[in-house]
Amino acid sequence: MSEYKHSYISEIGKYESQDVCIKGWLYGKRSSGKLHFLQVRDGSGIIQAVVFKGDVDPEVFERADKISQETSLIVYGTVKEDKRSPLGFELGVKDLKIVSESHEYPITPKEHGVAFLMENRHLWLRSPRQHAIIKIRHEIIKAVRDYFDNNDFMLVDAPIFTPAACEGTTNLFETKYFDEKAYLTQSGQLYMEAAAMAFGKVYCFGPTFRAEKSKTRRHLTEFWMVEPEVAYMDLDSDMNLAEDFVEYVVGQVVKNRRAERELLERDISKLENIKKPFPRISYDEAIEILRKNGKEVPWGEDFGADEETVISEQFDRPVFIHRYPTVCKAFYMKQDPENTKLALCVDMIAPEGYGEVIGGGQREDNLDTLLNKIKEHNLPEEAFDWYLDLRRYGSVPHAGFGLGIERTVSWVCGLHHVRETIPFPRLMDRIKP
Ligand code: 4AD
Ligand code: MG
Repeated sequence: MSEYKHSYISEIGKYESQDVCIKGWLYGKRSSGKLHFLQVRDGSGIIQAVVFKGDVDPEVFERADKISQETSLIVYGTVKEDKRSPLGFELGVKDLKIVSESHEYPITPKEHGVAFLMENRHLWLRSPRQHAIIKIRHEIIKAVRDYFDNNDFMLVDAPIFTPAACEGTTNLFETKYFDEKAYLTQSGQLYMEAAAMAFGKVYCFGPTFRAEKSKTRRHLTEFWMVEPEVAYMDLDSDMNLAEDFVEYVVGQVVKNRRAERELLERDISKLENIKKPFPRISYDEAIEILRKNGKEVPWGEDFGADEETVISEQFDRPVFIHRYPTVCKAFYMKQDPENTKLALCVDMIAPEGYGEVIGGGQREDNLDTLLNKIKEHNLPEEAFDWYLDLRRYGSVPHAGFGLGIERTVSWVCGLHHVRETIPFPRLMDRIKP
């Protein structure tokens, strides 16, 4: 069959009226008399391959009749324009070869429960809906990298094994490290602070780990975070950076992933709104909004999903909440010089109740204040000696933030739960497949 050039389905338009072969899997099939309509997928798209009895050997027609869902196959035929199909083309089949049969594929076109689909995540990824989500995830990650690369940030990879906690000790994953204890990283931030003192503007992007003992729709135990950090940056500029960045990332999905958004039935107008400036409110103002909406939160408590949802409903774009009480935030946050009870930190809350997508702020740059914070938080001082060095040798104001990829994907795709936003989710009750 050497005269049949291999084409990916996504590129089929280049070969109109020519003979090509498609290498893929059978997604679906429908037959009527002298015709079999095979839906063939190859990862790049789905094409309808039409087997007409009069065009092929009888045994090929018979083969097409028996072929079952997810059988791998190579289809040979002529590319024809077909205005009715979403692709614009179909294949007039001349021959087909079965590569490997598939029997009783578990995910049939009927509805399945989430638990069943999660068990079969390795197969579920073949479905068009999961394709659309993972493509948007890909687009978001590409936009994240492009944004920082195009704005002169240096990529500095942070380690996964760490000697100490960054985001509190309650959700650390502990592991053996030869004769010592180590923890899976919760955040690359502390390393980015060192890197910012070396390179000025840096970011890391990688998996981070939290032993989240609650089952919520926003928490994974392993998630991906991008963390920029900039020397000589204050809280206001940190917010400027975050809104410019998020506007770009969402804008790239709006521009480049229309088909996927339509398949997911994601309301485009909600995403087109995501233009800077984003509103900025203080923690105290947020408490006031909550009170007016019948939610009393004692001053000093962090906000949970319910509070974030109420606040997000007041705005048509992401909202920054800045200056939380120090008591509910991490040890490294800089005290507000105007009120030492407050931290110069910021969270970005996504609209429509998708929750906190960014956490960040200005870092404590004073050696003594930071040392006291480490003690107050009962953290092991010796594990942070290197971190304190950054305040000993030319300390400067600096700030940064972390954006969670999965929360962002769930917001942009309009998904209720983060479990579908990552190819192989890790949840409290799931580590397989
Ligand atoms: O607010 P967090 O905990 O901030 C930090 O880790 C900082 N050290 C980042 C920095 O300043 N460099 O986490 C940042 C973001 C959250 O806003 C959220 O989007 C995501 O990470 N995130 C999670 N996503 C999924 N599952 C979890 N368990 C998450 N925990 C945090
Ligand atoms: Mg946070």
